[in-house]
Amino acid sequence: MDDPLARYEPILDDYEAFRAACERPLPQVVRVNTIKATVVRAERALKEAGVGYEPVGWNDELLAVDTDKPGNTWPYVHGWLYGQEEVSAVPAVVCDPDPGDRVFDPCAAPGSKTTHLAALMDDEGLLVANDSNLGRLSALRSNAERCGLTNVAVTKSDARNFSLAPFGGEGFDRAVVDVPCSCEGTIRKNPDALDEWSLDHVDGVAGIQKGILSRAIEVTRPGGTVVYSTCTFAPEENEAVVDHALAEHDVELVEYDLPLSTRAGLTSWDGETYNASLNRAKRIYPHLNDTGGFFCAKLEVAA
Ligand SMILES: C[S@@+](CC[C@H](N)C(=O)[O-])C[C@H]1O[C@@H](n2cnc3c(N)ncnc32)[C@H](O)[C@@H]1O
Repeated sequence: MDDPLARYEPILDDYEAFRAACERPLPQVVRVNTIKATVVRAERALKEAGVGYEPVGWNDELLAVDTDKPGNTWPYVHGWLYGQEEVSAVPAVVCDPDPGDRVFDPCAAPGSKTTHLAALMDDEGLLVANDSNLGRLSALRSNAERCGLTNVAVTKSDARNFSLAPFGGEGFDRAVVDVPCSCEGTIRKNPDALDEWSLDHVDGVAGIQKGILSRAIEVTRPGGTVVYSTCTFAPEENEAVVDHALAEHDVELVEYDLPLSTRAGLTSWDGETYNASLNRAKRIYPHLNDTGGFFCAKLEVAA
C-alpha cells in the first residue's frame, strides 16, 4: 500500500493536523530515573551539563530536552535519566504498580517500561522482564544495570509459552504487555517505519499479539491488572486483539484517567464490530499532544 496512514482518515476528526504532525520530528524527552535521582537533582545536573529542558506538563518526571543526543550527557550515563518517548511512559503510569508487587513485562527489551515500572515500584518486589530476542535482551540488561535496578529478573522466552514455574507458580499482580507491532505511530522518530508496511504483516503480528496477551492474562492472578499497549494505529493490532482477549478470558476493560488528550478506542472497523467496552481504551494521535502515536487498554482479571 502506497500510503498506509490514509486508511485512518474516516476515524480521525482532524486528518490534516494528524498528517502534518506525522511529518514533524519528535521532541526529545527523557524520564528521570527516580531510583537514582530526584527530579530536582536531575534538573540541576542537566543545567550543569548545559542542556536546556522543560517539563512536558502531565508528568513531573518527563522532561523535553534541547539536545538530539541525551544519551551523550553525564546525567544519562550515570543512570539518572532514561531517553524515552513521551507516550512510552503511558503504560507504566496506567499500570501504577506498588512497591512489593509482582509485575510481568513479557516484551521488555530494551527496557523503557521495565525501568519505569521498577522506579514506580521503588525497586522493591519482583519485576520479571522477558523478551524473545537475545540481542535486545543485552540492551535491556545494560539499561537495567545503568539505572540501578535490583528487583528485576530477566528471562528469555517466547511470551506465548511463558512459564511461571521458575517463579513458584504464583500469578503476577500486574502485567504491562507492550507487544511487537507495525510501529505506525513511530513515524516521527523513524521516517522509514512504514516502508515495509503490509496488511499481511499487520494480520501476522496481530496473531502473535493475541497469543502474548492471552498468556499474560493467564499468568496474572485473579483481580490483577493487565495493561496492553502498542505504538501503532492499526485497529487489527489494537481493539481487535483486546476484543479477542475479552471473548476468550474472564477479564474486563476498565476506565482509567490520563492527563493527555486522547480519543476513545474503536468499537467497529472495516466491517468488524468489537465489544462495546473498547471505548474505554485510549488512542493517542501525534497531533493531539505533539507526541508519537500510541494505544493503551487496561484490563482487570476477574477476582
Ligand atoms: C515494542 S517492543 C518492546 C519495547 C519495550 N517494552 C520497551 O519499552 O523498551 C516489542 C518487543 O517484543 C519482543 N518480542 C517479539 N515477539 C515476542 C515473543 N513472541 N515473546 C516475547 N517477546 C517478543 C521483541 O523482541 C521486542 O523487544
